[in-house]
Amino acid sequence: MAGTEIFDNEEIKAITDVIERKMIHRYGSHNSRNGHYRVDEFENKAKAITGSKFALGVSNGTAALIVALKAMGVKPGDEIITTPFTFIATIEAIVECNAVPILGEIDETLSLDPESIEKLITHKTKAIMPVHMFGVAADLDPIISIANKHNIPVIEDACEVVGGTYKGKYLGTLGLCGTWSFDPNKTLTVGEGGMVLTNDEDLYNKMDYYHDHGHIHSKEVDRGDEGKSGFGVNYRLSEIQGALGIVALDKMEMAIGKLRATKKKILDAVADTGIKPRPMNDNEGETASHVIFLMPTAEDAKKFQTAAKNAGCGCGIIADNTWHYAKHWEALDAMSEKDFFGTKAPSYAPETMANADAILSRAVMFGLNICMDEESINKIIDSIRAGMKAIKQ
Ligand SMILES: Cc1ncc(COP(=O)(O)O)c(C=O)c1O
Repeated sequence: MAGTEIFDNEEIKAITDVIERKMIHRYGSHNSRNGHYRVDEFENKAKAITGSKFALGVSNGTAALIVALKAMGVKPGDEIITTPFTFIATIEAIVECNAVPILGEIDETLSLDPESIEKLITHKTKAIMPVHMFGVAADLDPIISIANKHNIPVIEDACEVVGGTYKGKYLGTLGLCGTWSFDPNKTLTVGEGGMVLTNDEDLYNKMDYYHDHGHIHSKEVDRGDEGKSGFGVNYRLSEIQGALGIVALDKMEMAIGKLRATKKKILDAVADTGIKPRPMNDNEGETASHVIFLMPTAEDAKKFQTAAKNAGCGCGIIADNTWHYAKHWEALDAMSEKDFFGTKAPSYAPETMANADAILSRAVMFGLNICMDEESINKIIDSIRAGMKAIKQ
């Protein structure tokens, strides 16, 4: 799963070059860097791959979400509709903008259920934020169509699915903007890094200024002479990460190809057991970072988990995942029904997530590595078969 698996001489060369040239800042020093701008190249590669008009490298995926929301003009007390099944960073980014997370339902694809969105829209809704979780696209067509009907922008949290697609388009490029993460747990990593993709020039400019202290970037003047657009923060990416990012994107197809091949091998080998793989909104576009199955009941999921572990390969039940499921976040529950910058937050009590729980407590998950030998793959297959045998007994 972690992109460090595919590190080799390419990364060493890329970093060494930056160190030897002693040019680590992505901006400024135009006269002494001989035209080397590694973060620019990383962004240009992301644009060339995805077809996105603009790409902004930032320090991580959480920063990418915050920069995007800020640039979209999200203000204290605004509401952002998202999903209870996401990494905690999605919610943190919303709260960091002093906005109120409004949680929809999920469906069996484990993504935001489009049917749950419309009734949550109010005059305070400033964005809809679907999250493409564990390698699979949310159902963007209906989500975007609801958003368009109400004139609300969509920001895709595509942090987990760099290189994944929905109906042939790269995830992160279908909404007003989308975010990627290259953190150490992702299929492609630069250590820590993020990217925002958008076709909207005005939004891009605002994000560009905000992520770097309000600098109006220019290659014509020294950094100290650049114009100021207003307050910002420092979520810059360094040239080391930029250099790693260029290599990472070059390896994207290879890494996803290997994951997809492994997943197919596993699914083919267990198809005769009658197991139900997680349904997907686009089977072709997944990044195959995880293999997830839906058991008939939560009790079956527990039986499956125990038997799989005894057979050599443990799996998680997603409802137990304390970092990726809002039911577990006391800090969020503490906001329940409180006034939050002039908006009354909804209840985030665990019982409000009963529908999500009914699905997530049936979902069992195996994480995949990019480079897996036959023995490890077979261990997963044997464990799945043992799990299915246990629930049939
Ligand atoms: C869905 C989702 N959003 C946002 C993030 C945040 O990315 P980062 O770790 O780069 O800050 C992650 C990272 O795990 C994620 O999975």
